Amino acid sequence: MNIIIFFLVGLIVHVVFFLSIFDIYFTSPLVHGMTPWATPLEPPASRLVLVVADGLRADSLFTPLNNGSSRTSYLRRVIEERGTWGVSHTRVPTESRPGHVALIAGFYEDVSAVAKGWKENPVEFDSVFNESRHTWCWGSPDILPMFAKGASGDHVYTYTYPAEEEDFASTDASKLDTWVFTQVKSFFQSAKSNSSLKASLLEDKNIFFLHLLGIDTNGHAHRPMSQEYLDNIGLVDSGVAETVALIEDFFGYDGRTAYVFTSDHGMTNWGSHGAGHPSETLTPLVVWGAGVNHAQRVTEPQPYTDGYLQGVKLSTLLVSQGLLPLSYLNNTDRFKAESMYTNAFQVLEQFKVKMTQKKESTLSFLFTPFQ
Ligand SMILES: *[C@@H]1O[C@H](CO)[C@@H](O)[C@H](O)[C@H]1NC(C)=O
Ligand SMILES: *[C@@H]1O[C@H](CO)[C@@H](O)[C@H](O)[C@H]1NC(C)=O
Ligand SMILES: *[C@@H]1O[C@H](CO)[C@@H](O)[C@H](O)[C@H]1NC(C)=O
Ligand SMILES: *[C@@H]1O[C@H](CO)[C@@H](O)[C@H](O)[C@H]1NC(C)=O
Ligand SMILES: [Zn+2]
Repeated sequence: MNIIIFFLVGLIVHVVFFLSIFDIYFTSPLVHGMTPWATPLEPPASRLVLVVADGLRADSLFTPLNNGSSRTSYLRRVIEERGTWGVSHTRVPTESRPGHVALIAGFYEDVSAVAKGWKENPVEFDSVFNESRHTWCWGSPDILPMFAKGASGDHVYTYTYPAEEEDFASTDASKLDTWVFTQVKSFFQSAKSNSSLKASLLEDKNIFFLHLLGIDTNGHAHRPMSQEYLDNIGLVDSGVAETVALIEDFFGYDGRTAYVFTSDHGMTNWGSHGAGHPSETLTPLVVWGAGVNHAQRVTEPQPYTDGYLQGVKLSTLLVSQGLLPLSYLNNTDRFKAESMYTNAFQVLEQFKVKMTQKKESTLSFLFTPFQ
């Protein structure tokens, strides 16, 4: 008899512990209903071009060839002359959906998504795309629709290759990237003779997002040390060079475009990702254009750069977590201060909403706010 009671109590304790894990950890961290804050000062850029090279490791991009030249001659020149570069830290799970959500919507993995599949984020969330005036995206049907769905109204436009036709790249995954660059090119070509599209493009607060899946696909198929993976990086570099030239030309070299080149996660030597090895979590970040600091020359060795890019300041190891990466900004102290001030209020808004929620779901005599 005693042994049965003992067994039942043990079982109940374990079930409660097991369920509590889900109650504590597997809930969405997202809150809604914050009042948005904006800086009153004129932003330095009218538009942003965001390029995400899916699955690109930081060292694969930054390490030079044996003879000292670079396979990414364009981005290398940007880093050495007119941009700011860094190594961004992604978080576990190093998968595409949480990686893109972190970049574009600014929050870590929503663990409540685990039970509902990797591809879609189950809860509605705000993103920089939704807050833009217009966003045009090109890339994989696994990533883009998530952001279009979360956006209210009709101002996030996605151009994806049909999932079943991804086969066109089965022999050479870099065709996925060629597809994106070609589409962007014909988009700007057609905008020249389409007055309504042109008018939208000339407005401010626009975003162009290029999602390049080729490097990731080649890494899975051939591993990151393969010629396929490395050649794909070179292809992306020349694609970016061409796209920048195209965009600068379209906007008449107005100096109002900011560019961000990064990756959603890296990849292990054996072609996988998802865990927390540095090869998976360290991703490259190259930022240039309107409002961004130019390269700073330094003599002391920079971290994470054994052998590569000595002499150009590594701006930050970006783990921003709500902090403004000031070292990237080329602007007045007033602008930086205003931006930090706005940022602080934005974070405070989240706290307020969370506190209200907590208050509503707690018995009043048990609710004691932190000092
Ligand atoms: C370095 O090697 C690559 C191929 O390995 C070659 O394409 C490039 O021209 C070389 N650069 C110089 C400066 O020799
Ligand atoms: C998208 O933006 C609109 C306008 O700013 C806002 O009302 C809406 O709540 C946002 N969507 C989400 C899911 O937060
Ligand atoms: C102009 O561009 C808009 C938006 O992409 C499109 O809906 C429209 O059909 C285009 N008009 C012409 C004449 O091509
Ligand atoms: C900041 O931008 C100005 C032009 O707006 C430029 O002359 C200056 O060199 C830039 N400074 C840095 C450190 O990038
Ligand atoms: Zn990915």
